[in-house]
Amino acid sequence: MTLAGQVALVTGAGRGIGRAIAERFLAAGATVVALDRDEDAAAAVGRGTDAASANGDGAGGARAALAATSARVLAIGADVGDAREVAAAMARVDRELGRLDALVNNAGIVAFRAVADMADEEWDSVLRVNLTGTFNTCREAARRFREQRSGAIVNVASVSASIGSHGRGAYSASKGGVLGLTRVLAAELGPVGARANAILPGTTETALANAALDEQLLAAFVDRTPAGRRGQPDEIAQAALFLASPAASYVNGVALPVDGGYLIGGLLVDERGRPR
Ligand SMILES: NC(=O)c1ccc[n+]([C@@H]2O[C@H](COP(=O)([O-])OP(=O)(O)OC[C@H]3O[C@@H](n4cnc5c(N)ncnc54)[C@H](O)[C@@H]3O)[C@@H](O)[C@H]2O)c1
Repeated sequence: MTLAGQVALVTGAGRGIGRAIAERFLAAGATVVALDRDEDAAAAVGRGTDAASANGDGAGGARAALAATSARVLAIGADVGDAREVAAAMARVDRELGRLDALVNNAGIVAFRAVADMADEEWDSVLRVNLTGTFNTCREAARRFREQRSGAIVNVASVSASIGSHGRGAYSASKGGVLGLTRVLAAELGPVGARANAILPGTTETALANAALDEQLLAAFVDRTPAGRRGQPDEIAQAALFLASPAASYVNGVALPVDGGYLIGGLLVDERGRPR
């Protein structure tokens, strides 16, 4: 799968799943707009952390390759929840790169608390980043995609968009909203040759998940996941690459779980068919 010659904007690219998506898109040949509210983290995308880049011994080729890769990154510090900052970021992409072919909405936050105990501020902050933030970037992208008659949107939702778990009131509502928005965008963009799809990651090894869930809860997730483990950020990135790439040219409006089978919710047994 290639994104050669394409410009892709990834929100929340500074770390976790967004970083993995940005790096995977770079490897597929894209020019990547790494947008994050943490501008320093966004600026680190494509700079490499391997030994060759760290000490450079006898690794001129690797250093040159890294330099070429980082030249394909435009890092932007912006808050997706702020429509004016998003519009300014998109205008900068227009000016500096001249086009936008793919948008990945990955920036997201959590506030896990029972609905009965949730404060207004918690509800507002989660909806503002996860749902309004996705709307802000999608609106800008949809205007451009309609004009150029091409483009792909990939929205990172969550398995929480489809199921109800304790404490996920704001988070599930925001991610369910993202799914609804994705379907509407698919219907609106399809006729002009563009697409919108969503990914539903299961529990993935990132700083966000590690902070939000204690060891017991993480173990319970793993226990309910047929794959018997958590996902890795690059496993989500591979799905994002497929949906953003021409390989998915006839895929529009899907909500793709990338969750090790978590959502099928069947009887969980070991490889001999016995209860785990
Ligand atoms: N990790 C999981 O288990 C998991 C599971 C399902 C869905 N997801 C979703 O995947 C996405 C990425 O999650 P992650 O685990 O990599 O999170 P993370 O916290 O590790 O990284 C999120 C990144 O988004 C950036 N960000 C947050 N708010 C922003 C804003 N307002 N504007 C711009 N950037 C902002 C952060 O600075 C950070 O770099 C989120 O949408 C999350 O809901 C994660």
